[in-house]
Amino acid sequence: MAIEPIIKGVIARNCDPEGCSKAVLKQINFVKEQPTPAYTPKRVLIIGASSGFGLATRIAAAFGAGADTIGVSFERSPSETGCGTAGWYNNLAFCETAGKDELIAHNIVGDAFSPAIRQHVVNTIKERFEGKVDLVVYSLATGIRPDHQTGELVRSAIKPTGQKYQGMTLDLEHETLHPVTLEPASQKEINDTVKVMGGEDWHEWINLLADKKLLAKDVKTLAYSYIGPEITHELYHQGTLGFAKQDLQRHAAKINDLLKPFSGEARVAVCKALVTKASVFIPGFGPYIMALYKVMKELNLHEGCIEQMQRMFSEKLKPFGNSVVDSENLIRMDDWELKPEVQNNVRQLLEQMTEDNFKSLLDFDGLKSEFLELNGFFRETLSSSR
Ligand code: NAI
Repeated sequence: MAIEPIIKGVIARNCDPEGCSKAVLKQINFVKEQPTPAYTPKRVLIIGASSGFGLATRIAAAFGAGADTIGVSFERSPSETGCGTAGWYNNLAFCETAGKDELIAHNIVGDAFSPAIRQHVVNTIKERFEGKVDLVVYSLATGIRPDHQTGELVRSAIKPTGQKYQGMTLDLEHETLHPVTLEPASQKEINDTVKVMGGEDWHEWINLLADKKLLAKDVKTLAYSYIGPEITHELYHQGTLGFAKQDLQRHAAKINDLLKPFSGEARVAVCKALVTKASVFIPGFGPYIMALYKVMKELNLHEGCIEQMQRMFSEKLKPFGNSVVDSENLIRMDDWELKPEVQNNVRQLLEQMTEDNFKSLLDFDGLKSEFLELNGFFRETLSSSR
C-alpha cells in the first residue's frame, strides 16, 4: 500500500523507504551516464552525506569518479515509534549499490560534532582507507551545535541583521503563501549562527585529520556556501547565515594554508539555491526558489543537487590544487543562477507574485515535487493519495 506523506508546515513527518531508494538510484544512474571526470579522488570522507548536496557529492564521487566513501550523517533508524528518516534509507540505498559496484562505502551515523563520532571516523579511515583520505567534504546543515565540553547547546537563528525583513513565506502543508516579518538578529544570535554554521567545526575536522596523519598528498577539502543575487541578500547574504558563510570563507583560507605542505587545497563551493531539507526552513526563501526554478527550467538551465555536483567534479575540480576558482578563491556553482538573463526574469516574476497567483505563476509544483522526492514520495504517490 502506498505510504501517504504527512507534512507539517515545511517538515515531512514520514518517508517512503522504497521511494528513498528510488530517488538515490535516480541520482546514481544520472552520474553513471556522464563521462568520468578529470578529478578522481580515491578515498572520500563526506560529513553530512545523507541528503542534499552531501549525498549528491558522495554519489558523484563514487559512481562518477570511482571513489570509496565514508559518509557521516545524523539520521534516525526505524523504531517502534517511527519509520526513521529519509536520510537513513538514502544511506542504505547508497551502500547497497556501491557494494554491487565493488566500492567501499561505510556509513557512520551520529553527531559529527561529538568526539566519539570523530574517533569513529579516524578509526574507519585507518581500517578501511589504509589510513589516508584524498577528499574531505563538509556539507553539514544543522540548527544546533552541542558543545561537548560544556554540555551547552548552541542554536542558530535565521534572521536578517541591522533591520527587519518583510516578505512572503511558503507553507508546504497548506500550499499557501503568507506575509512574514523577521526581526533583526541580536549580536548573540549572529555569533551563535556563526558557531553552528560557520567554518570552525570544518577547521577542527581538518586539524584532527592532519594531526592523526590521515591526509593524503594532494588532499582537497570542500565546504558549501550560498551567496545569491541581491534580491535575496537582505535575508541571506547580509543575514545571520551570510555571516556564517563569510566565516566559512575565512576558515577556508586558513585551512588552505594548513594544506600547503600536502600540495592540497581548501575551497568553498558556492552552490545554487535548491530545495533540500535544510533550505525549506529558511523563511521567505520559497518564492525566490519557485521563481528561479520556473526561469531556469524555461531556459533549460535548471540543475538539482546531483547535476550541480556532477558539474563540479567534471568542470571545476582539478587534480593538484588547480581547481577553477574566482578572484576570491570560490568555486562558483551558482554561475548559471546568477546569469543576468535568469535574474532579470526572476525579478519580473517576483514583482507579479501574489498570494493568489503564485502556484500558476511560479514553479510551485516543481518545488513541492522535489520536496516530496526528498522523502521518497514521487508525484504519482501524491496524486493517488489525494
Ligand atoms: P541537507 O539538510 O540536505 O543535508 C544536511 C546533512 O547534514 C544531512 O546529511 C544530515 O544528516 C547532516 N547533519 C546535520 N546535522 C548533523 C550532525 N550534527 N552530525 C552529523 N550529520 C549531520 O542540507 P543541504 O541543503 O544539502 O546543505 C548542505 C550544505 O550546503 C550547507 O552548508 C548549506 O548551507 C549548503 N548550501 C545549500 C544550498 C541549498 O539551497 N540547499 C545552497 C548552497 C549551499
